Amino acid sequence: MSVAVDASTQAKEQTTKDLSVQAESKISFAPGVEPTKEELDRVCTQWNQHLGEILFSESAIQQKVKEMAAQISKDYAAILKPDEVLVCVPVLKGAFVFAADLLRHLTIPYEIDFLNVSSYGAGTETSGEVTLLSPLRTPLKGRHVLLIEDLMDTGLTLAWADKYLKAQEPASLRLGVLLHKHGRARVNMTLDYFGFHCPNKFVIGYGMDYAQQYRCLPYVCVLKPSGYAKKAE
Ligand code: PRP
Repeated sequence: MSVAVDASTQAKEQTTKDLSVQAESKISFAPGVEPTKEELDRVCTQWNQHLGEILFSESAIQQKVKEMAAQISKDYAAILKPDEVLVCVPVLKGAFVFAADLLRHLTIPYEIDFLNVSSYGAGTETSGEVTLLSPLRTPLKGRHVLLIEDLMDTGLTLAWADKYLKAQEPASLRLGVLLHKHGRARVNMTLDYFGFHCPNKFVIGYGMDYAQQYRCLPYVCVLKPSGYAKKAE
């Protein structure tokens, strides 16, 4: 069973969520909304024709990010000693947009190092194998660490990163994840800070890519079939 804490509510004990398959089946999703002309005009024309329904708007994401940052700040204000600094570790590349927004709302002292891994390559399905592209340079032993991810899909990346960081014996390790994709988890993970449940659709924007494009869309939307690379006949 996986468990997550929804950062949108304040009292952690009251917000523990059951993300087991049974509990997940009860989650209902609001329908996506087609992007407006204004939203399409903000991105390049080569992209906007491929942008499908928006599942998480810019304003909804920004509101949620602020709530998560407030909860994280509150929690670590109680944990960090006067001489301690939180080590924030966004997972590249996808988490860089989320992390940039989240960290700018934190009110506790922190530093940043990046974990550079990949498991998707150019496709829409995980390869199942996580590759470390470059190691962390910050020593973590005895320090409080917050791992930051844009998306938990199968959970293989998070599980790998969790193990990699724990091997360095931090004083504590927590996971902050913006999106949890419905019904896809292959591993049990505890998400300490969690944004939204996401329907099981291939999503792009706000850090997430298809073939390395679309990462800086300010919202999360579905890629239309026209956006997928055509394979050679
Ligand atoms: C994406 C995303 C997560 C991971 C989630 O990264 O940013 O890190 O997939 O999938 P999982 O739960 O099935 O492991 P990706 O491997 O595509 O690399 P990227 O961050 O460079 O886009």
